[in-house]
Amino acid sequence: MHSRRCLLFMPGDDRRKIEKGIAAKPDCVIMDLEDGVAANRKAEAQATIVAALNELAFNGVEKIVRLNALDSGLAESELEAVIPARPDALLAPKIESPEQIEWLRRRLPESLPLLIMIETAKAIVNLKEIASAPGLSALIFGAEDFVASVGGIRTRSNHEVQYARSAVAIHAAANGLQALDQVCVDFGDEAGLRAESRAALEMGYSGKTAIHPKQIIPITETFTSSAEEVDRARKIVEAFRQSQSNGAGAFALDGKMVDMPIVRAAEAVLVRAGVRK
Ligand code: COA
Ligand code: MG
Repeated sequence: MHSRRCLLFMPGDDRRKIEKGIAAKPDCVIMDLEDGVAANRKAEAQATIVAALNELAFNGVEKIVRLNALDSGLAESELEAVIPARPDALLAPKIESPEQIEWLRRRLPESLPLLIMIETAKAIVNLKEIASAPGLSALIFGAEDFVASVGGIRTRSNHEVQYARSAVAIHAAANGLQALDQVCVDFGDEAGLRAESRAALEMGYSGKTAIHPKQIIPITETFTSSAEEVDRARKIVEAFRQSQSNGAGAFALDGKMVDMPIVRAAEAVLVRAGVRK
């Protein structure tokens, strides 16, 4: 699976932003047909995305297209236009049922990864059935739409999305999918972005969406294990190997208990660092 630490959105009708986005080298770019594009610019966006897919060198940046919602009446013709231009993956917004995933999968080449957005109250209620539907690669949590759908108020504390954001991480993990975090709309606030990214990492997310190139480095750094974390993880894994051969399941390392869950977390650190698969 493609590493998706940072996924940068850009409006699909803006060729300049598509080019700038690729040059900024996030793991993935998401060229948007949905809410980043005005209703009267949808056709322009589709044409711009198809041209970008055909003409630009993406240099290893994963090229993802976000479709309009399935009930918009636009998605089917978008699929027909976009698939021949060979995106690396597709993102479907506002998914609320497993039937919608079946509908999409019937129209997609088998090898084309499908990411979906979980961003409504109904999606959270149906999350078990949605996340276990065959043919998914990742779940992206959409905080702004989610809060709008429940009639709540978006705050910097994120307390109002705690349950839904956590549910997305849990259902993704239970089904072997990537969990990818909400955007941070306040793109001038680097400290806030770093804190929000770290919170997502702690909840089990492996990457985060972005809306501005400035956000790529803080997000990518957060979802990449540091050298100290890698050293510590290696030490835990090695000490565990020795304690196992000595017949001890749990042991102490630097004054803290280490047992199987701690070893699994250490292995996850090594995976995030690219040291392990
Ligand atoms: N992708 C690629 N390039 C981007 C970008 C993005 N998401 N956001 C900004 N840039 C570029 C701008 O084009 C500008 O470059 P330029 O001056 O050479 O043209 C540079 O980065 C600095 O941008 P800035 O002036 O700080 O922001 P802005 O006012 O141009 O744009 C937004 C602000 C919010 C409109 C813009 O960041 C954006 O379009 N974000 C994505 C919106 C989106 O896709 N929403 C749907 C998903 S949530
Ligand atoms: Mg949304």
